[in-house]
Amino acid sequence: MSGPGTLRVLCIAGSPRRGGNSDRLLEACIEGIRQAGGEPDLLVAADAGVQPCRGCNTCARTGACVIADGMDEVNRRIDAASAFVVASPVYFATVPAVLKIVYDRLQPYWARAHRLGQPRPARRPGAYLVVGGGGDPFGFGCAVDATKSVFAVLGVDYSGELCVEGPDVPGDVLEYPAELVKASEIGGEIVAAARAGEGRE
Ligand SMILES: Cc1cc2nc3c(=O)[nH]c(=O)nc-3n(C[C@H](O)[C@H](O)[C@H](O)COP(=O)(O)O)c2cc1C
Repeated sequence: MSGPGTLRVLCIAGSPRRGGNSDRLLEACIEGIRQAGGEPDLLVAADAGVQPCRGCNTCARTGACVIADGMDEVNRRIDAASAFVVASPVYFATVPAVLKIVYDRLQPYWARAHRLGQPRPARRPGAYLVVGGGGDPFGFGCAVDATKSVFAVLGVDYSGELCVEGPDVPGDVLEYPAELVKASEIGGEIVAAARAGEGRE
């Protein structure tokens, strides 16, 4: 249960594979969030029941999406969060489809700010944890940029990313103890940044 003053960190697991490498990084980060006194709110993108954006552009007129599905709950959790962590693998240089579907459905946040001139949410910090098997010459840049774009639309200050190249089979990331420690540290840092910025417009 959340009490008054609870600092909730929305932790979005962006892999279609449960218990994989990005989930392990996110678990380490969640440990850091807890140790710093934050409350992690784990959202599994693949289980969120979110349909793809239809590009109908109704949100540019109304500020709301025409699709009634799991995104309503995702939006509530986004609005209740004081900070964000997204963890995902890189798939063909960008984020997996299960996460991209959620990203695309954030278009109403863009429409409200840029088309309808509505006030933006308070600034909040966010970080990105990304893992890739490696060997792809196109790297992690598109996944990082897509996540930065989403954070910008949500009014989230991008505090940085942790890119781990190499882990492929589930559990491989356990061979990267320094990166797991870094993920935990990021959890603590994001809580501290959210505390420092609380109430900032
Ligand atoms: C469809 C697909 C596409 C992938 N594309 C890339 C890629 O472009 N670059 C890369 O480094 N690894 C790529 N990988 C490997 C995954 O990023 C790697 O297996 C990662 O550890 C999976 O993380 P997870 O266990 O959290 O799902 C791909 C894997 C799949 C299944």
